Amino acid sequence: MKVLTIVGARPQFIKAAAVCRAVRARHTELLVHTGQHHDHDMSRVFFDQLGIPEPDLNLGIAGGPHGQMTGRMLEALETVIVRERPDWVLVYGDTNSTLAGALAAAKLHVAVAHVEAGLRSFNRRMPEELNRVVTDHVSTLLLCPTRNAVSLLEREGITRGVHNVGDVMFDSVLSNRARAAEVVDRRALLAGAGIDPGSQYSLATLHRPENTDDASRLGEVLAALSRLGLPVLLPLHPRTRKVLEATESLRSRLGPSIRIVAPLGYLELLAVAGDARVILTDSGGLQKEAFFLGVRCVTLRDETEWIETVELGANEVVGANAERIVLAAQRAVALGPLGPEVTRAGPFGDGRAAERIVAALESS
Ligand code: UD1
Repeated sequence: MKVLTIVGARPQFIKAAAVCRAVRARHTELLVHTGQHHDHDMSRVFFDQLGIPEPDLNLGIAGGPHGQMTGRMLEALETVIVRERPDWVLVYGDTNSTLAGALAAAKLHVAVAHVEAGLRSFNRRMPEELNRVVTDHVSTLLLCPTRNAVSLLEREGITRGVHNVGDVMFDSVLSNRARAAEVVDRRALLAGAGIDPGSQYSLATLHRPENTDDASRLGEVLAALSRLGLPVLLPLHPRTRKVLEATESLRSRLGPSIRIVAPLGYLELLAVAGDARVILTDSGGLQKEAFFLGVRCVTLRDETEWIETVELGANEVVGANAERIVLAAQRAVALGPLGPEVTRAGPFGDGRAAERIVAALESS
């Protein structure tokens, strides 16, 4: 079997790490990097830390408006798929790279397998929501991380080729957590950010356009982070950095407790996340990583795709209202780490999603 895997953005590198290994154990894989995330902190570091094979091809397509980025990827990927004629095109998640890969393959009648199928925020203003809805509807194999994702697909009439394989990000946390604790000097990392390594701290990330491209929302979030009563480690996504650099009124909302650092590598992120008192984020992946690590999460969005974490009391979705953010974070700190009864509930499978994905590809 020949599998053409398409990745482009940071969360996809993490997901692909586990799956590439499982695919290559028995099959031929061709790895294409679209180039969407391109610098060391957003791309290279994940390949190095997670032992992801070198991409066979890097399209070098990044930046620009969504239509242009997706269009350029579509054109380039079509050429690659025509040339390589794979049995499967494997795509991950909800990025422009995912949409371009899925569409190019489906139009060439090449079977598409979508990892992380069936997620919905029901907010069509998010580019990610449009990307995943379209991708699901052109996919042959829908590899869902949860039971809820399977039911959401059913509501849209998609029932064929649907498998609940579990979440590959859980595979990844399980296999890298101990290594992260071993190789990362967490205390030095915190000290480097100006946080006393012995003190309690919170971890925050922010990159969704709904927050970064709306000055009033971003201002509220930054004001809230400044008032948590805890130092906040804030590894800053390039999109958010650009906005802050361009807007003095937003920079003025950054209180001294907010400690900005460059985006972290995967192992560094796991190491600091595991010991945070609370995690505040608008990322999809980090909501789950918080859960896997037993840390409470406050989600800085108006909705979440990961409702399991909310139902289990591990995550509060509070939007961008400063008052609500501060109260939720204080509640999370007061409640303390998640108990084993919560983390053992297992809505994201058993950490063997990658094997199940390969089995599904083989049997379809
Ligand atoms: C993308 C995905 C999102 C995913 C996120 C993870 C889409 C529509 N969105 O959002 O689903 O959760 O990645 O990070 O595909 N930049 C750099 N260096 C890099 C990468 C990006 O400077 O290595 C800059 C870009 O030039 C751009 C900004 O960061 O201005 C945002 O990057 P972009 O690829 O547009 O999307 P993300 O916001 O990262």
